[in-house]
Amino acid sequence: MIFTKDDFGPDFHWGVSTAAYQIEGAHNQDGKGPSIWDQFVKKKGKVQDGSTGDHACNHYHQYEEDVQLIRSLNIPNYRFSIAWSRIFPEGTGPINPDGVDYYNRLIDACLAVGITPWITLYHWDLPLALEKKGGWVNREILNWFEHYVSTCVRLFGDRVKHWMVLNEPMVFTGAGYFLGYHAPGKKGINKFLPAMHHATLCQSLGGRIIRDFDPEATIGTTFSCSHIDPASEDSKDIKAAQRFDALLNRLFIEPAMGMGYPIQELPIAKRVEDYLKADDEKNMAFDFDFVGLQNYTREVVKYNWYMPYLQGQIVKAEERNVDLTTMGWEVYPQGIYKMLKRFQAYENVRSIIVTENGVAFEDQCEDGQVKDIKRVRFLQSYIREVLRAKKNGVKVDGYFVWSLMDNFEWAEGYEPRFGLIYNDFQLQKRIVKESGYWYSRFLKSSKVMLTDEPQKSEF
Ligand code: BGC
Repeated sequence: MIFTKDDFGPDFHWGVSTAAYQIEGAHNQDGKGPSIWDQFVKKKGKVQDGSTGDHACNHYHQYEEDVQLIRSLNIPNYRFSIAWSRIFPEGTGPINPDGVDYYNRLIDACLAVGITPWITLYHWDLPLALEKKGGWVNREILNWFEHYVSTCVRLFGDRVKHWMVLNEPMVFTGAGYFLGYHAPGKKGINKFLPAMHHATLCQSLGGRIIRDFDPEATIGTTFSCSHIDPASEDSKDIKAAQRFDALLNRLFIEPAMGMGYPIQELPIAKRVEDYLKADDEKNMAFDFDFVGLQNYTREVVKYNWYMPYLQGQIVKAEERNVDLTTMGWEVYPQGIYKMLKRFQAYENVRSIIVTENGVAFEDQCEDGQVKDIKRVRFLQSYIREVLRAKKNGVKVDGYFVWSLMDNFEWAEGYEPRFGLIYNDFQLQKRIVKESGYWYSRFLKSSKVMLTDEPQKSEF
């Protein structure tokens, strides 16, 4: 079967995504305060290539050109995040007018050319001043976050109608407060559990604040998710896979759906009771207008008695003889279908938007051109699975590519290139890749097709 954009319907939201720390640069300009990432990247050995997001894509200064590029590629929706420490350099206290001015200009630039802004309120760059007071581990974060979110909706809510509260809470609490390989580099279960619980509370709190301010706004929050298979039919592997699934795919969405934490499959989560206060369970729930699904790969899990809390481990994709990306992730388009079906199965999900999907491959820029055919195939195959889900009754109403352009990929630095646009970081020069042109043609014309099933060797 051959499909085009029209098969998704006229109201489907097509877009691209970015995040402040990964693209803005201008890390200490115009009154911005430091964030946990500004500090973390300067510690030895934290970022693989030793780089920082100090300058990133210089989007802070080049946003007009970038918005024009989005326009020229026919992409109608742009998802970006606000850097909390541009608005509040100290996390709370006085507002930084220049930071507010920047986001006003960015929002207005989008609207002026007919691009709808979709704002993520928190994409991992906590103000450092708040981390010094304990960050996500300190329950005070609920007050800091309330102040920050209400300020943002008051400042920008006259023009911004699409909001996402958090970006992937599992990743920023797991990598940042349990494993320590993301900012702020904290480790251990006693950091992770309170950080997790406070993030869960903030996720719904943020939703309520926006709804109170603007009942018409479309409010969501985003979740990382990956289909998980057991390494074998052995019941030990199956149970280990279920524990990982509860941790990676269920821990944040289920409390938001009013189902509480999945403690039956993830017994360690029961210890969150140490941090529970009256009404918390009720307050964890919120009826989001949409859930943001972010999917890249799948995981395979095997039993390992020695692994604390989980008694299991991920079998690396490179050991499984599968197609790999620069991140070492398996290319697995069916996974997005499976996760869409699972999210849909939650009773309280009203609508799902794929707020991130994309891939890093080794792109080469030759003679001013980037022929990233593998990314074109990747996007086509994942988008086709999104359509399959839609046709099978999943209320999936949007798809955003990660990412607009190559950017600072956290602990992996600048090597993985996820963009539809190639960035020459020395010159800060943007070069639209073949995938960007393909996406653009696909969005513009009802005649551009999603191709038929790709051959395995195409990746
Ligand atoms: C994050 C992005 C990140 C992307 C690719 C998501 O986990 O939201 O910030 O760049 O995946 O790793």
